[in-house]
Amino acid sequence: MLPTRRRFLHYLGIGTYALLSNPVKASHVAFPLSRRKGAPPAFFHPIKPNRADDLLVPEGYSKQIICAWGDPLGSKHNVYGPEKFGFNNDFLAYFPSDALTGGKNSNEGLLWVNHEYPNPLFVSHYAGKVPKSERQIVAEKLSVGGSVLHVRREGGKWMRVAGEHTRRFTALYPEFEVSGPASGLLPTATGTLANCSGGRTPWNTVLSCEENFQDYNPQTREGYCWADVEQQKIDENQYGWVAEIDPFGELPPRKLSALGRFAHENAAWRLGPSGRLVVYMGDDAADQYFYKFVSAAKYDPSAPRAEQRKLLEQGTLYAADFRRGKWLPLDLKRSKALRSAGFKSQGDVVLRARDASKVLGATPIDRPEDCEVHPADGTVYIALTNNEKHGNLYGQLVRLVEDNDNAEGESFRFEIFLAGGPQSGLACPDNLAFDHQCNLWVAADITSRRLNKEAYKPFGNNGLYVVPTTGDSAGDAFQFASGPVECELTGPWFNENYDTLFLAVQHPGEESPNLDQLTSHWPRGAAEIPRPAVVANTGFRW
Ligand code: FEO
Ligand code: CA
Ligand code: CA
Repeated sequence: MLPTRRRFLHYLGIGTYALLSNPVKASHVAFPLSRRKGAPPAFFHPIKPNRADDLLVPEGYSKQIICAWGDPLGSKHNVYGPEKFGFNNDFLAYFPSDALTGGKNSNEGLLWVNHEYPNPLFVSHYAGKVPKSERQIVAEKLSVGGSVLHVRREGGKWMRVAGEHTRRFTALYPEFEVSGPASGLLPTATGTLANCSGGRTPWNTVLSCEENFQDYNPQTREGYCWADVEQQKIDENQYGWVAEIDPFGELPPRKLSALGRFAHENAAWRLGPSGRLVVYMGDDAADQYFYKFVSAAKYDPSAPRAEQRKLLEQGTLYAADFRRGKWLPLDLKRSKALRSAGFKSQGDVVLRARDASKVLGATPIDRPEDCEVHPADGTVYIALTNNEKHGNLYGQLVRLVEDNDNAEGESFRFEIFLAGGPQSGLACPDNLAFDHQCNLWVAADITSRRLNKEAYKPFGNNGLYVVPTTGDSAGDAFQFASGPVECELTGPWFNENYDTLFLAVQHPGEESPNLDQLTSHWPRGAAEIPRPAVVANTGFRW
């Protein structure tokens, strides 16, 4: 059943870009300004916006820190020394310990964690002005990528336990294979970085999305200055892909070039009517595009994992044209425009997916971050975070509906599901997750330097919200959590029986000017430096 349609306005033929580049057209928002919110879901009492330097959850709920930046993992040592938990944890995915035999163990499993970017103040103690040293760059390279943690619930508490699968992925190691059309141009890649959000495949691997790879070499105030040391400079073509990693360690890690190269935010999949795997993906940058990949082959759940994963090697990559409701194939064979524009091979097309999308006339939109597929109706919810270039301060959630419910097709419609702003109580939507009651969980990402200032005053610190998608409260946001100072809550992920919500606290105290003027001391309090950490929230009363 689709959520009630009367609640949505339709913008057929109008791109979000066209809509959002003129934010004064407030009549475009999904709900009347005077409308009262419906009742919150019965499983919690919403909290209020807050500025406390703490992770706040509703009454009756509890939270436990599983791992924080710098914690020794107890995994095998390598040439760089003992492995430690990385910085700025983002995407999380829980894999039941018995997942490979079809099990759903909700008390023990592997927890994948993305580590998106370092804060040089904390990670390498880099204060600017002089060139970064090799040691500092290596420290930063070791702080990004991902972690596999082995977690278990004992006596009602989640904890990290020793396990053979516990290990790190960093910008220095391991070596990744490159699959798909760009493999001829780029056979391998060293490590992974800028790992933002992601997805979990049907064959239990992680899709870890490489986002702002362009920030690392530049020797500028905004850049990480890795080019300060020639040997540490990265080949940018090796990043900006979706990295596929098997937390169970059976399958080699690889970059999926068929899914294109851009500032990948995440990857959410569903099956099409003929059994093809369809992966939806956002490119998190102002005025960039929304994509989907449709596999050439059909999904066969009885095939070995190594066979199943081949689905992500061959298929069609599309960019969305929201003005016409069309999926534009980024396919050199089908497109004279791409050939005329000088693309030499399909590998070249996927490597420069942004340029190819522009040539074909895809619609630039307002920072498409996370997207998730609705568990009941297969529609795709997309978070457009904001767009400073067009005065879109608060962002919105868009709902994309494939024509005839055909995810393999080439046309779609879309609607604004929730308009960010003071009257909806939610600004700058970013990470998304669905629960089994079809509530959409939305984490806010108001830029740290703007939090609690001017237009963002009403929202307090960045929070986590529950938005029902059906019933009288559909489209209404109810706050579930409030994060510590200057953090963003990321990676919401439920275990299989929905009694635990894993959540990451990213970049607390991000605006600290130096180590003597810390803006946050979370989670350890006192005079401690702030640390990104992963938390297990329990106490659900569904
Ligand atoms: Fe890494 Fe788009 O947030
Ligand atoms: Ca994000
Ligand atoms: Ca973000």
